[in-house]
Amino acid sequence: MSLPFDGAISKFYREAAPKEVRAAIKGASKKDILSDSYPYEKPIDKDDYEAMLEALQLELVKFQADVKATGKRVVVVFEGRDAAGKGGTIKRLRENLNPRVARVVALSKPSDREAGEWYFQRYVQHLPTEGEIVLFDRSWYNRGVVEKVFGFCEDKQREAFFRQLPEFEDMLVDEGIHFVKIWLNVGRAEQLRRFLAREKDPLKQWKLSWIDVEGLNRWDAYSEAIKETFERSHRDVSPWTVIRSDDKKRARLSALKAVLQGVDYAGKNLNVANAPDDKICGGPEIWSG
Ligand code: ADP
Ligand code: AMP
Ligand code: MLT
Repeated sequence: MSLPFDGAISKFYREAAPKEVRAAIKGASKKDILSDSYPYEKPIDKDDYEAMLEALQLELVKFQADVKATGKRVVVVFEGRDAAGKGGTIKRLRENLNPRVARVVALSKPSDREAGEWYFQRYVQHLPTEGEIVLFDRSWYNRGVVEKVFGFCEDKQREAFFRQLPEFEDMLVDEGIHFVKIWLNVGRAEQLRRFLAREKDPLKQWKLSWIDVEGLNRWDAYSEAIKETFERSHRDVSPWTVIRSDDKKRARLSALKAVLQGVDYAGKNLNVANAPDDKICGGPEIWSG
C-alpha cells in the first residue's frame, strides 16, 4: 500500500531536520543510543531484558489474579510523543494476560457526535468495572498536547479541560481505582530514527500518520504543550511517571514496574516488582523538552 506521504520522513531527514539531529542519526549503529544525555551508553543486554521481562510478566499474572479475586479496578494511561513506545509497552504488558481482564482503549479522533459531548464523556464509557485493567493508549491528555499543537480544539475548551481535570482524576482515585499515568519520553533524534524505520518497513508503515509527518516540524510546539500539561496535571493524587524511552526495552521494564508499584497482591516478589530504574524514571523533572 502506498501512503499519501510516501517518502515524507526521509525528505524531512534530508532537507529539514536540525543539523544535530541528522548528525546523531547519520552513521549511528543500531546499538547506539542517540541521546547524549541518556544515562546508559548502550541498550540493555537482550538476555537480561528477556529474563527481566518474563519475571515481570509473571508478576503481572499474579496481579491479574488479585484484580479478579478482589474486584480491583485499574486504569493505566500511556502518553508520549509519536513513536515514544506506547504501543510496544502495552503489548508487553498484555502479552500474558486475559484480554477480557486487560483491555486496551485506543480511541480515534472524536466523531461529530462526540465532539459535541462533554470532553471526558467518551473516556468515561471505557473505565473499568470490578476485576478489570484498562490500558489507555493515549487518553484525555490529547486535549493538553496534540489538540493544542494542531489546533483541534479552541483555547477555551483546553482551559475547561485543565480546570476540570483535577476533579475528574480525583474522582477516579476517590472511587478506589488504581490509577497510573505513564509518560514515555523519547529524544528528537531517536523519534526520527524510528519514523525512518517505519517508513521503510511495510509491516510498520501503518503506524505512520499525517500527524506524525506534520509533527516533525512542530517539535517545539509539542515541547511547550507537554511542559504546560505537566505543570497543570502532575499532582500528589495523580502524579506522572515519566520514563525516558530512548532505549525502549529499558523503558518497558520500568513501565511494568511502575504499574505494579504501590499495589499489594498475593505472592508479590519484591526482588522483581521493585522500584523502576531512577536513572530513567521519575517525575516531570526527568523530562527536559
Ligand atoms: P497515533 O499516534 O495514536 O497512531 P495519530 O498520530 O494519527 O495517531 O494521532 C494522534 C492523536 O491525535 C490520536 O489520538 C488522534 O485520535 C488525535 N487526532 C487526530 N485528528 C484529530 C482531530 N481532528 N481532532 C482531535 N483529535 C485528533
Ligand atoms: P537529546 O537527544 O539528548 O538531545 O535530548 C532529547 C530529549 O531527551 C529531550 O527532548 C528530552 O526529552 C530528553 N532529555 C534530554 N536531556 C535530558 C535530561 N537531562 N534529563 C531527562 N531527559 C532529557
Ligand atoms: C508509540 O510508539 O508511541 C505508538 O505506537 C504511537 C505511534 O507513534 O503511532
